[in-house]
Amino acid sequence: MKSNFIRSLVLCSLIILFFSCETEKKKRQLNLPKTDLAMENMIPIPVKVIPTDSGFALDQFTAIYTSQNVTGFPEIGQFLADKIKEKTNIDVPVNVDEIPEREGVIYINQSDSLELDAPEAYQLYITKDSVILNSNTAAGAFRGIQTLRQIIPNSANDTLASYEVWPIPTGKIIDSPTFGFRSSMLDVARHFFSVEDVKKYIDLLAYYKFNTLHLHLSDDQGWRIEIKSWPKLTEIGGSTEVGGESGGFYTQEEYKEIVAYAAERYIVIIPEIDMPGHSNAASVSYPFLNGNGKTPELYEGIEVGFSTFDTRKDTVYAFLDDVIREITEITPGPYFHMGGDETHVTKMKDYIYFMERVEKIVHKYGKKAIGWDEMVHGDMDSTTIAQFWASKENADIAIKKGMKIILSPAKKMYLDMQYDSLSKYGLHWAAYIPTDSAYTWSPQNYEGIPVESILGIEAPLWSETVGEIGELEYLAFPRAIGHAELAWSIPENRDWERYKVRLANQAPFLDRMDVKYYPSPLIDWEKSKYSYKEIDKD
Ligand code: ACM
Repeated sequence: MKSNFIRSLVLCSLIILFFSCETEKKKRQLNLPKTDLAMENMIPIPVKVIPTDSGFALDQFTAIYTSQNVTGFPEIGQFLADKIKEKTNIDVPVNVDEIPEREGVIYINQSDSLELDAPEAYQLYITKDSVILNSNTAAGAFRGIQTLRQIIPNSANDTLASYEVWPIPTGKIIDSPTFGFRSSMLDVARHFFSVEDVKKYIDLLAYYKFNTLHLHLSDDQGWRIEIKSWPKLTEIGGSTEVGGESGGFYTQEEYKEIVAYAAERYIVIIPEIDMPGHSNAASVSYPFLNGNGKTPELYEGIEVGFSTFDTRKDTVYAFLDDVIREITEITPGPYFHMGGDETHVTKMKDYIYFMERVEKIVHKYGKKAIGWDEMVHGDMDSTTIAQFWASKENADIAIKKGMKIILSPAKKMYLDMQYDSLSKYGLHWAAYIPTDSAYTWSPQNYEGIPVESILGIEAPLWSETVGEIGELEYLAFPRAIGHAELAWSIPENRDWERYKVRLANQAPFLDRMDVKYYPSPLIDWEKSKYSYKEIDKD
């Protein structure tokens, strides 16, 4: 009996030994990826990449461990596991009790190392045996996860193993953003976009390390956010959109859902109520707000500049107090955008009076105010941020007043500008912006604006000409990917010829996400369809 037991024990050990050796052997026989390929998949390009010529085998034995007592880290580990599942179909356990033998482990650690001082900085150390992602903050860890996602190959490698192996190239990546504010804007007022559409846009922004999404929630054609104390704003003002379609709006619960979804991706939502112009939808709902002397009617066209609030009525400010209070109550981010653009029918002195008064309401509710660049004519607080879209003179005034600037120059960053005269959607009043033009400029020296005055950059997507998410994607992609790189990377690392290759390599991701991007003829998309497997055959 005893000797039988010993015999089985020996047999078991031999079997285990055989399988571990076998696995080791198989891992050693991995066709290691060419490490430069990793560089060629990353956007934004990291500050520093030091490749070593080997591969970490991501496979069915991999596990993820995270700092467990630091807010956000376990969730980030699970986020990575979910994305690995989507890309490779491998189930990677997160923070399981024991580290089973033979596994490669991905560690996601909170670390106070000085090198990681910036709030979104991270470091990745990838060896054959482990991936170590260190960051001081959960936001930094989340950005690092995106880099890792990008360097997981698009298909499994051929190995002798009976299971699939996805070799992650080894090396060290040291990275942190140039600008702490990296944003895009969606105009959900000219055309309404559903919660699901906005979530998809957020997913795409997160992959490229954006950290802010500005929602343009009101305009002449539509009011898109429920205000409980003024229900007609959405009942009437939300009922239509450009072209006479049925419009729509977010309930406060839906808005909160968007805010929470963005927060899980370390993206802050900035709500905008555009005023005193671009306010026709509000004035149709409550005509006492109107200051242009005409009877407001629902508007489905794309002209601008004809509407204004009545800037001299206290009831207008009581209304705005309610609106700003209700929106800021459900907006955890630090900003409220008060619009202020294209107020062609508001007298300058009334405009200034209005913007100064609204700024005070924004401050009363504990938020920093943002306004389009015209707003600088008022005596604005130096904490208020000017969004430079059109006028360099306005940007200069803002700088003199000690205000920070968000760079959104229309001729470089407006995602609704057509690529060229053949573009299916978009306008071209500022410029045609082909994919290279959107990328080959530098926010660091744009029109002489000192970099210390720049909070960050934002790529706005106005929706006069697009009503479906696929149309919106055609305008946003691939240009927004270039803006992501301009916002994050250092200028010395940027080069159009090399960027072109990295951009082509985004095609498999964009295809997996079902993004209807514009296949710019400047980019050799076909070459991008390779995987490590195909490369290894060369
Ligand atoms: C704008 O494009 N009217 C800010």
